[in-house]
Amino acid sequence: MGTAAVLPQLPPARGPLSGQLVDLLRSGPDTPVRAGAAPAGAHDAWGEDVQLALYLCYELHYRGFQEVDPETEWDPRVLELRRPLEQGFLDAVRDALGTVPSLDDQLEALLIEPVHGTGPSYHLLERGQRWQAREYLVQRSLYHLKEADPQAWAIPRLHGAAQAALVAIEYDEYGAGHPERVHSRLFADMMADLDLDPSYGRYLPLTPAPALAVVNLMSLFGLHRALRGALVGQFAAVEITSSPGSERLATALEGLGAGSAGTAFYREHVEADAVHEQVVRHGVIGALLEDEPALEADIAFGLAAAALVEDRLASHLLACWDANRSSLLAPLRDAPRGVGSGRGR
Ligand SMILES: [Fe+2]
Ligand SMILES: [Fe+2]
Repeated sequence: MGTAAVLPQLPPARGPLSGQLVDLLRSGPDTPVRAGAAPAGAHDAWGEDVQLALYLCYELHYRGFQEVDPETEWDPRVLELRRPLEQGFLDAVRDALGTVPSLDDQLEALLIEPVHGTGPSYHLLERGQRWQAREYLVQRSLYHLKEADPQAWAIPRLHGAAQAALVAIEYDEYGAGHPERVHSRLFADMMADLDLDPSYGRYLPLTPAPALAVVNLMSLFGLHRALRGALVGQFAAVEITSSPGSERLATALEGLGAGSAGTAFYREHVEADAVHEQVVRHGVIGALLEDEPALEADIAFGLAAAALVEDRLASHLLACWDANRSSLLAPLRDAPRGVGSGRGR
């Protein structure tokens, strides 16, 4: 699959902040931009406008957009807009979390996998429909089509044993030398198997704020060296919780008619993340705490924050599916039409 040739287009704005940013990005680095958006603090940090604006800012550090000059990545006006947005987002995450449990308590709790859980993977396994599985992949696609990239920012920020262990996991995520095994490629192949468009960023216009927040959190942690402890916590949350959920999703997708390419991504994660879990616990977190014990609270914060944004996305998905309506901003062609714009994709 090509990469540079399939850059996404800028999505439609969702309010004044994302509108201001879309104008700025489209205009290029040297064009003055209109003022007028309300200060970022006046907006809902979890809302569509703020989350899309943040997503646009962060995407400039990954692949960018078709019509946006790559130099815009370091346009001071973009950075100036971004700063209060990410501060507002961080504050909202801290407010929602309240007192964060200790790192040990959180790691211990993650060892226990509920027999009767309630998340989207349980829903899809027990009573999921094909359109819901397709929505699930769309909701996840912004992250999984750049899987491991946000955590790669951690590499130059760790040292010694913690760095070696993190890179060992990242090496697997990037296919261990085999392009057809790169996890983002496996995800793209799965999307195609489920009749979805696997182009990078293709579904950004349909992706609601709760799913954007999941990706924005890791980009935020990744792009701030000061938050490297939180990034390691987020990384650990993904690696530790992935294996049993992946098993359920692979089985669910198989039951909903997916072919072998449609389950390979999750099958891979059943095996790989059982190993990664151990490496991240002892190799990454253990070694990092030996080097920098002061980061313990940040790692705990990252773990809790990752669980928070995942829970918010799960609540959104289940609330929509239980009401038999699409969880996307506009339904895919096989989803119920009752709520949403009614435009099929
Ligand atoms: Fe992976
Ligand atoms: Fe992994």
